[in-house]
Amino acid sequence: MGSIKRFNIPRLYHQYKLQYFFETGTWKGDGLAYAAKTPFKKLYSSEIVESIAKEAEGRFKNDNRIQIINDASTNALKKYLPQIDGSCLFWLDAHFPGAEEGLQEYNQTKDETIKLPLHIELEIIASRIKRFNDVILIDDLRIYEEGGFESGNMPAHIERPANYSINFVFDLFADTHQIVKSFRNEGYLYLLPKTALSPLSASQNFYCFILDKWKKTII
Ligand SMILES: C[S@@+](CC[C@H](N)C(=O)[O-])C[C@H]1O[C@@H](n2cnc3c(N)ncnc32)[C@H](O)[C@@H]1O
Repeated sequence: MGSIKRFNIPRLYHQYKLQYFFETGTWKGDGLAYAAKTPFKKLYSSEIVESIAKEAEGRFKNDNRIQIINDASTNALKKYLPQIDGSCLFWLDAHFPGAEEGLQEYNQTKDETIKLPLHIELEIIASRIKRFNDVILIDDLRIYEEGGFESGNMPAHIERPANYSINFVFDLFADTHQIVKSFRNEGYLYLLPKTALSPLSASQNFYCFILDKWKKTII
């Protein structure tokens, strides 16, 4: 499993003037806990499995910026995006309900929009891209293509979408975002707005470079 810790969240937060965080797929809340170290105004995380969502609510009950949404990611995005009135960092990591927790088999959920909701999630997010400088981080690129992934290709026994590819990401975001692939872990895609605000100064960049090396982050 990939980790959002591979990304330098404070750096992205400052560079793109991000105000909100939205995660799809909470699981144990480790990604959310990492993001919550950055002073986002509000952090949302959607989790489809009720028992997992309840655990997360308990874990984060003392941070009133955090909202756990026990619903499918696409429903959560439709419901909460209209109230997110500033640029947002998205961490799209929802797939295979309950499988990491051992509650279901990877191939058990037959509804593709629940099992692998990335395409619909991105369509919903794309509806606001002209208004905000959203940054989008996507885990598990290897679901959508073969490559030299650090953790190898997707195990063959796990069913993938028919004609899998990530062309839909380019169709939706190529005009507005720089789209970058990483082959670390199970693979990541990250989408950075082309209308970047205030590029970092040379000294800030050097500092971030050193930080990146030290923390082994991707960006
Ligand atoms: C890889 S884990 C998430 C890890 C977490 N994002 C982190 O960074 O620590 C995937 C989680 O997504 C949940 N999930 C799967 N399909 C979902 C869907 N359609 N909507 C919301 N949550 C979903 C799973 O139950 C599981 O808990």
